[in-house]
Amino acid sequence: MVARAWHPGSWREMPIRQVPEYPDPARLAAMEAKLSRFPPLVFAGEARRLKAALARAGDGQAFVLQGGDCAESFADFTANVIRDTFRVLLQMAVVLTFGGSLPVVKLGRMAGQFAKPRSSEVETREGITLPSYRGDIINGPEFSAEARVPDPQRMELAYMQSAATLNLLRAFATGGYADLHQVHRWNLGFVARSPLADRYQDLAHRIDETLAFMQACGMSDLPQVRETDFYTSHESLLLPYEQALTRVDSTTGDWYACSAHFLWIGDRTRQPEGAHVEFLRGVRNPIGMKVGPSMEPEELVELTRALNPANEKGRLTLISRMGADKVEARLPPLLRAVQRAGRNVTWLCDPMHGNTVTAGSYKTRNFDAILSEVRRFFAAHDAEGTIPGGVHVEMTGRDVTECLGGAHRLGEADLAANYATFCDPRLNAEQSLELAFLIAEELKARRARPERRPAQAAE
Ligand code: PEP
Ligand code: CO
Repeated sequence: MVARAWHPGSWREMPIRQVPEYPDPARLAAMEAKLSRFPPLVFAGEARRLKAALARAGDGQAFVLQGGDCAESFADFTANVIRDTFRVLLQMAVVLTFGGSLPVVKLGRMAGQFAKPRSSEVETREGITLPSYRGDIINGPEFSAEARVPDPQRMELAYMQSAATLNLLRAFATGGYADLHQVHRWNLGFVARSPLADRYQDLAHRIDETLAFMQACGMSDLPQVRETDFYTSHESLLLPYEQALTRVDSTTGDWYACSAHFLWIGDRTRQPEGAHVEFLRGVRNPIGMKVGPSMEPEELVELTRALNPANEKGRLTLISRMGADKVEARLPPLLRAVQRAGRNVTWLCDPMHGNTVTAGSYKTRNFDAILSEVRRFFAAHDAEGTIPGGVHVEMTGRDVTECLGGAHRLGEADLAANYATFCDPRLNAEQSLELAFLIAEELKARRARPERRPAQAAE
């Protein structure tokens, strides 16, 4: 990769994929100008704190839980939707913290996850072909010619919805909702009736006992018990929007993308000479990149150099999304190449995007395939002496029927009951919690095998 000068608009000189065609460039430019005057959504100091936390996960001293909708939507914008997803993430995080005896870094796919890459430019229904839906920040999901025209005005709505969502998340994280003393109350109605309820209640009791013990020892008012750190992330796909929210941090003079704490590059837009890599290489946030089954080892090492030239820990998170049946063949050579090249990265497993199947007219994913991808991801790291740093999941706090299997053995005939996603199928609250329990078992088993403890395998 040639060393060229970076500036927030340098991506415009590079070939770009997945780009919407706005019919009126003047309206697009006016919206970019407007957004560039709006306040940033996050502060650079927060992004640096997240980077430090991700560095610890890369060293095996923390575990990352990244999760949320495939696509947030303007239609589904309510306090309950935000609260329910946040609450399940908190539940998953305590399960993982307890099982792994590791701090969990909580990173929502929330407050900005609006732009979607698509495999096909068009969608055909009953003989009618229209441009694909690309996420609410670009066009509308309705199957009509008008809805599918990209509209720059949507960027302003996405910004406002992100700001309001982030505001509520910050309030929940620090205002008492996330207090560990509330661990019983996080149980949602329908999870309380599920086969997992006892297991969760048992864990909640143990946490209660621990808190009572800490109180007796005079440690009751620790901020770590009363509040939590919660960060936001989304795919950095719609670059005019991301550029407009990129600012110089007044405390360091560095450029930061200020639409979220963490941005990632999708598997379809990770070309080393492409616009999306160009944009993210120049901002100082912690960033991610999806790594799918077509990635080759040399290409990956080249990308780690382009995206993290200073080889800073916590800067680059690689999110493996192979598909359960491809992990064993495709992941180990990548782990090896990155390790041999001495590149510092934090590895996460996205067990969702390589396991999408079609059942009737529904896109779905099987819980067993999801779990199997996570287990094979862990096994590959064990074999290579590298560190599995966390997971990235598409989930919701709602009682949806989008993924098959899990404790309730959701079958194909159940999908129609509440299939509500605007894009990919999500784990519902119960399936998410179940996955967390099963991953916690993996983490616990690793703790019991000292020869494979991540911190010792690091060198
Ligand atoms: C996604 O995370 O929703 C997505 C499109 O992922 P990928 O880039 O891995 O296909
Ligand atoms: Co998705």
